[in-house]
This record gives sequence, structure tokens and C-alpha cells, in this order.
Amino acid sequence: MIPAYTCIVFDLDGTLTDSREGIYNSIRYALDRNGFSCPGDDTLRRFLGPPLAESFMTWCGMTEEEAAIATESYRERYVPRGMLENAVYPGIPSLLRSLREEGVFLAVATGKPLNATRPILEHFGLWGFFSSVACPALSDLHADKAVLIRRALNGLPEKARERVLMVGDIPGDILGGQRAGCDTCAALWGYGDNGEMLLSSPTFSAEDPDALFRILRGDRKPPRGPFISFEGVDGCGKSTQIRLFRTEMEKMGYRTLLTREPGGCPISEQIRSMLLTKEDNGMCDEAEALLFAAARAQHLREVILPALSKGWAVISDRYLDSSLVYQGAGRGLGMEWVRAINRPAIQDGMPDVTVILTLDPAEALRRRTKQGAPDRIEKSGGAFFDAAGRAFRRLAEDDPLRCAAVDAGGTEDEVASRVRAAVLSRLSAADPEGGKEVN
Ligand code: TYD
Repeated sequence: MIPAYTCIVFDLDGTLTDSREGIYNSIRYALDRNGFSCPGDDTLRRFLGPPLAESFMTWCGMTEEEAAIATESYRERYVPRGMLENAVYPGIPSLLRSLREEGVFLAVATGKPLNATRPILEHFGLWGFFSSVACPALSDLHADKAVLIRRALNGLPEKARERVLMVGDIPGDILGGQRAGCDTCAALWGYGDNGEMLLSSPTFSAEDPDALFRILRGDRKPPRGPFISFEGVDGCGKSTQIRLFRTEMEKMGYRTLLTREPGGCPISEQIRSMLLTKEDNGMCDEAEALLFAAARAQHLREVILPALSKGWAVISDRYLDSSLVYQGAGRGLGMEWVRAINRPAIQDGMPDVTVILTLDPAEALRRRTKQGAPDRIEKSGGAFFDAAGRAFRRLAEDDPLRCAAVDAGGTEDEVASRVRAAVLSRLSAADPEGGKEVN
């Protein structure tokens, strides 16, 4: 539990995302278009955070009118291109997820207009975490942080507003938070000069997102990472999709660990070689199911749980559902029996999200037969794989909160964007009451 705060309001640039590259490029573009010379990087750094028009006036000697025109030019480049020259700070998504799991309401108060804020948060998979987002109007060139914070809070239920923390990376965020009556945290990973930040007297400061979580919880535990498994019958294109998805997760600020079942660590890889040998070694179905469970027990304890508790996103190529489907349905041992033998192996180590790639059985067979010599499982025949395919679909229907059935037909990119949408909607379910205020 996080006892101290019912709501945390985040600044965007320099706190959630490192948007420097796109901002600098767009400022250079605006100055060039309007015949002003560009200041050095030390001065450009001062543009990060305060209202843009004010920086044009302070650092480039513009009049209010010139600053308004330069802001227009800036937006010409920033909205189509610059805003995605951007990256989420490592650790942010796990922090937001863990805070949501602890029941804390999350909000954003940013000086960026909504036409840039929303696409950025959506692009990086963060939009779903926030119950309230407050941005200035396009015409408001001097947005006041305290006003934005109050607006973000107005959108939330009464109980969320009881104890509020504002997290920001420049002194203006801290001062705005103080004027809005909140406690404040200096995000030292952002753009502000650390000395100036501390002079603005934040309630506390944090070196990185993990440290913020530890301070809030009052213990040494970093936020827990999400556990995502991928499933589907052999030939569904799982490996390609996992590779693409991992790249996406890293772009979204997750540190990722990719692993597989059976296997993932030395003992479980040894078990794998017994299970997936190309000869018929006479293994009975029960021994097969128990060996998959044994490999899983070791893999979970040695690899998956330690990575999750360090805040890493673990992506596993197959997990428990493969056993339910292949041994339970395919071999006919029954899903309940397979679930029972896996109980001591996994305890409560279940994935947060399971992507089940579904494909027409004939197409899956066609893709499978293109691969090399089949292993023990791949030799099991059409009826086995048909039963497995049906069982995967049933699992997805029975547990839609965790499992997302994703159509694996179409191009790689089409499938990848379906996978991304399915996972994000399950990872970032924002608001316990289901509402979202945007103003
Ligand atoms: P692998 O070569 O990794 O195949 P894929 O790329 O399709 O995942 O082999 C894993 C095989 O093991 C695959 O045929 C599915 C099967 N399997 C089970 O039967 N039960 C299980 O619990 C797991 C994890 C895998």
C-alpha cells in the first residue's frame, strides 16, 4: 500500500518522456523560419519546461507577437514529426502500473496542448494509465502550472483529491505544485538543474522512477514489471511477433527480458532436450506433462520472478496455457489434471497478459511443414493440433481479462499492431471507476 498519496500528478516533458530531441529540432526550425539565430545547447536546455512563447521572449529577444508567430512555426514541425522524436524514461511504465495496482489515481498536468499530449501518451502506451489529463488551450501561451494542476484534480473523484503529490522536473513544476496545495517531488532524472530543483524546496526528490516508488512505499521494493506470455499452435508466427513486440516494449520504456518454455535456464533447457527430442523416446503422456511442469517450476523461480521483482517486463514464449492445451486437450489428460499438477509449480506466478495467436489450422499446418525435421510434439498429427487450436480459443473466451486472442492472419505489421493494442489495453487499465477527464 502507498499510504501517503491518493493521487499523483505528473508533468510530461522531462518527467514521463525525454522529449528533448524533437523539441530542439522544432525550436531550430521555428527560429530559422523566422530569421532568428539559434542559441547554444545550454540556452536551449532552458526552453524545456516553461511555456515556449516565454522562452522565445526571454532567450531570443522576441516581442510577444513574434513569440506567438514562432510558436506557430514550432508547432508546424512539432506536431507531425517532433513529438515522436521522444522516448519514455526507463522505469516509468512499471512505476505507473504499480501505482495503479496500489489504487493510486494518476493524472497529467502539462504545458503541452492536447493535440500533442494525447498522441504522445497514446504512442508510448501511457494514455490508459491516467484518469485525468490537463493541458492548456492552443491560444494560451502562458499556461500557469498551478492552474493546470487544479484543473487536472477537478476531473477526479473527491477521494482522489485527499492527498496529492505533484511530480515534476523543473522548479516551475515544484512551485506550481506548492501553489496548488500539493506535496511535491523533484524528478531529478529530468531537465532541471538539480541544485535549482532542491532550492525550490520540494517535499522530497527522487533520482529515478524506481527510487520514487521505493520512497512512496517506504521499503526497498522497486515497482514490479509486467509478465506477458505468448501462446498459439506451432506455425502461428509467434517468434516473429515476440521479437517485434519486445522492440515495441523497449520503445515504451520497459526493460525487457525475453525467455521461453520449455527452457529459459540450464535445468529447464536440459528438460527441454528430453521433451523435444526428434526420436521417439517412448515417453508417456503423464511424464511429458510433469516434465513441462518441472521445467516451469525452475524457470519461474530462477528467471521470471527475480526479473519481475527488479521491475523488468518478462516476455515468455509459452507458459502454463501451452500445457493446458497441448497436454490437457491435445494428449487428452484433461485441463483440470494439468492445472492441478502445475499448481505447485507456479503458485500464483501467472502472466498479467497472455497473447494467444490464432490462425486457420490449414494455414498453420502449411507454415509448420516449411520448417525442418519435426520434434516429438510436432509429430503429433493434425487432430492433436486441431484440438490444441480449439482449446486455445476456449481459454481466451474463458479469461478475457488476461487472455487476448489475436488473429495471426495478415502481414507481420498488421498482426504486430493488433498485439500491441491487445496488450496495452490490458496493461494500462487506468481508472477503477472507468472514467477519464481530459481538459
Ligand atoms: P518450440 O520449438 O519452442 O516451438 P514453438 O516455436 O512452436 O513454441 O517447442 C515448444 C514445443 O513444446 C511446442 O510444440 C509446444 C510444446 N509445449 C507443450 O506441449 N507443453 C508446454 O507446456 C509447453 C511450454 C510447450
